[in-house]
Amino acid sequence: MRVAFLGPPGAGKGTQARDLAQEWRVLHLATGDMLREAVATGSPLGREAKTYMDQGALVPDDVIIRMMAERLGAAASRGFILDGFPRTIAQAEALARLLKDLGQTLDTVVYFDVSEPELLRRLTGRRVCRKCGHTYHLTSNPPKRPGVCDACGGELYQRDDDTEATVRNRLEVYRRQTAPLLDYYRQRNLLVTVSGEGPLATIRDAIPAAAGAVR
Ligand code: AP5
Repeated sequence: MRVAFLGPPGAGKGTQARDLAQEWRVLHLATGDMLREAVATGSPLGREAKTYMDQGALVPDDVIIRMMAERLGAAASRGFILDGFPRTIAQAEALARLLKDLGQTLDTVVYFDVSEPELLRRLTGRRVCRKCGHTYHLTSNPPKRPGVCDACGGELYQRDDDTEATVRNRLEVYRRQTAPLLDYYRQRNLLVTVSGEGPLATIRDAIPAAAGAVR
């Protein structure tokens, strides 16, 4: 399985990718998680990325492509779910080149379709575990104990870029820079669409069926 999850911020890509990567025994490669780790360690990459992430802007393509080139080499033979990459046409073209060099191709791109009011509701109510990265929502997917991760007992926090003003900017950036990928992958016959609204389990079941439809 070599699959990319595509969709606006808050569409549920990370929530579904974490579970499905375990089920399919493939790697979950999430560029947002990698960048947040780099920010947390204070590395040069993290310091550069933070200025863009805080504004809800995309980190420059060359930085992301270099970061993914290092990870894909190890992941390609095992299979992967790409979460949040590619996000521009330049990144999509780089991904195709990187995979070609590895003798691989992308099987499917799964697009998560979610309305904008729902995206705003989800992102402003999202809480994330500092320790294991598990994601919750204050009302639609709350932890059993407020502020505490069900999975590992870690502390839950709100991401800096989940404030309403930054979320609105991220949605605008998505429309301008990432949405053109829908046509890009449609033209290559790789795109399948799932509704990203409704119960998590229903969406989880729809993804393999949709992904299998083009293989
Ligand atoms: P990143 O971390 O990738 O953020 P994103 O794409 O904006 O995606 P999110 O993590 O916000 O949403 P998601 O679709 O994963 O939703 P989730 O499952 O968490 O990127 C952050 C930043 O890093 C970017 O802004 C950019 O600066 C930089 N960056 C990253 N990749 C880059 C790249 N390739 N190029 C350049 N820059 C890059 O769910 C959201 C909420 O909804 C949760 O609370 C969840 O519990 C809830 N939820 C999920 N599903 C449902 C459901 N079915 N019903 C109700 N609630 C649900």
